[in-house]
Amino acid sequence: MTDITALKTKYTAQIEGAENLAALDDIRVAALGKKGEVSLQMRTLGKMSPEEKKIMGPALNGLKNELAALVEARKLALEAEALNTALASETLDMSLPVNTATGTLHPVMQVMEEMAVIFADMGFAVAEGPDIEDDFHNFTALNFPVGHPARDMHDTFFLKPSTTKDGEDKSSTENETGEKMVLRTHTSPVQIRTMMSQKPPIRIIVPGRTYRCDSDQTHTPMFHQVEGLVIDKTTNMSHLKGCLTDFISAFFETDVETRFRPHHFPFTEPSAEMDVRYERVGDEIRIGQGDGWMEILGCGMVHPNVLTNCGLDPNEYQGFAFGMGVDRLAMLKYGMPDLRDMFAGDSRWLSHYGFSPLLQANLATGLS
Ligand code: PHE
Repeated sequence: MTDITALKTKYTAQIEGAENLAALDDIRVAALGKKGEVSLQMRTLGKMSPEEKKIMGPALNGLKNELAALVEARKLALEAEALNTALASETLDMSLPVNTATGTLHPVMQVMEEMAVIFADMGFAVAEGPDIEDDFHNFTALNFPVGHPARDMHDTFFLKPSTTKDGEDKSSTENETGEKMVLRTHTSPVQIRTMMSQKPPIRIIVPGRTYRCDSDQTHTPMFHQVEGLVIDKTTNMSHLKGCLTDFISAFFETDVETRFRPHHFPFTEPSAEMDVRYERVGDEIRIGQGDGWMEILGCGMVHPNVLTNCGLDPNEYQGFAFGMGVDRLAMLKYGMPDLRDMFAGDSRWLSHYGFSPLLQANLATGLS
């Protein structure tokens, strides 16, 4: 017959003497675990006579509960002890000087933020789309017919099929419907995505990365655009002109004289390019007034074919769109000479032209 008292004395002493949580757990397993001493004793109950069982059953159960309670109490005590030790040793030295060498906000990010703030004041929401686009959204739906020369003017990066041992794997270069995949050449495909997924009135801007196979002092293979789209029933060309003239003056923080020159884009009709007045003072280009005109952005009234391609009735809806290069506008506003420096990742350039992340865009643009 088991000596319950002996077991109790043995384990009580061990539990109370446990020095840490791991040791306590070993003791718990040795006593109460599946193969622990108390558990093994409980298994012998089956072989006992009914009388013996009547006494030993409750006694063993009582021992089990008592030891479990002791383990729990010791565990709480050890945890509290560990916490107190940690609190005593982990101190925070508040007298250390603040590290002032923080990163800066890239000028492109700053300028996109400034643009979003100005357009938000005019009621525009921000929309986004994927950098890897299909031919349909990047070209076809935007009224670039298949084989049309305007497609070639975009210097498109097409995705190359990856080759496997069974030949070319087309899944990386075509979507489910067999459309060719490209790196989007402009942010205009997001016009299509927006018109196909939400009902007018629509008033969005689309900041994002775009790609064309081109590189020199004023072109990089990756660049940034901000697209704009307004669709409702009565929006017309004078709204387009007013919106963009107000925008460009707010952006350059001065009165900017603009002119709209006829142009061609497949997805707008009529189409225009907006020029701004500027003058050259020494090495510096000053936007606003002067005797020169500089092209700043492309725009136009959304082509009826584009509306139809998106399931909108051109007899009911109309609107305008525009697209501008963010990097070039950042260069003009903040006086950077070479576009390629923007993406060279030189930390000296970044700390010179970068912006404090704590400076809010609405402070930078003078709006509040
Ligand atoms: N997507 C055109 C470009 O990249 C710009 C544009 C957008 C023109 C919207 C008109 C309307 O050149």
